[in-house]
Amino acid sequence: MNIILLGPPGAGKGTQARKLVDERGMIQLSTGDMLRDARSSGTEMGQKVAAIMDAGQLVTDEIVIGLIREKLEQNPTGSFIFDGFPRTLAQADALGELLAAMGTKLDAVIEMKVDDEALVHRITARSTCATCGEGYNDISKPIPADGHCVKCGGTEFKRRPDDNEESLRTRLMEYYKKTSPLIGYYWAKGDLKQIDGLGEIDEVSAAIAEIIG
Ligand code: AP5
Repeated sequence: MNIILLGPPGAGKGTQARKLVDERGMIQLSTGDMLRDARSSGTEMGQKVAAIMDAGQLVTDEIVIGLIREKLEQNPTGSFIFDGFPRTLAQADALGELLAAMGTKLDAVIEMKVDDEALVHRITARSTCATCGEGYNDISKPIPADGHCVKCGGTEFKRRPDDNEESLRTRLMEYYKKTSPLIGYYWAKGDLKQIDGLGEIDEVSAAIAEIIG
């Protein structure tokens, strides 16, 4: 089973992908996480993309396709959740070719629909555990009052440098200009499923489960 979670920044792609990893043992392939890892490990590529990410613009197709190719080669028989990839038509074509070369294909592309106002509130309230990456939100899922992560007990939490209103505006613009054409692309292929991403986290999970069985 291979799925894409498609949606604007803050739609809940990462939140749902992590649940699918925990509950079903699927493999989350988040190009955002891969790029952040490259940044923090100080690789040449990481340094090159840092300013682009902070400004909310898209990194080149060549770089992200290379990252995905490498992960697929490391896990040739996995069950994948593509989170934040593909984001352009060129990336979508490349993914189709990579999966075909592995003798597999996409089973569903799940578009998570959330209105822009809610995205701004979600993103500007987001934080994560610095130890295990568990996601929190000042409004919908606050850090416990005792200051310990529910998953690992860690006590340090961080916010992303691109989670501010200015970068978010650019990220949304990039989404509408370059990523939203994928909705029509996958609809024409017969792969597109749409869900309401505005409900509670568990309600959104239930909608995904209805699609993937
Ligand atoms: P990336 O890391 O992919 O960021 P993004 O797409 O902007 O998505 P987010 O991680 O912001 O949101 P999400 O949908 O995962 O929401 P989350 O679950 O955290 O990309 C970052 C950058 O890397 C890009 O800008 C670009 O520069 C580069 N990049 C990455 N991939 C690329 C590619 N393929 N090509 C080119 N460049 C690329 O949820 C958000 C918040 O809401 C959380 O606080 C969460 O707790 C809360 N929440 C989630 N669900 C709910 C719910 N149902 N109700 C209430 N709150 C909820």
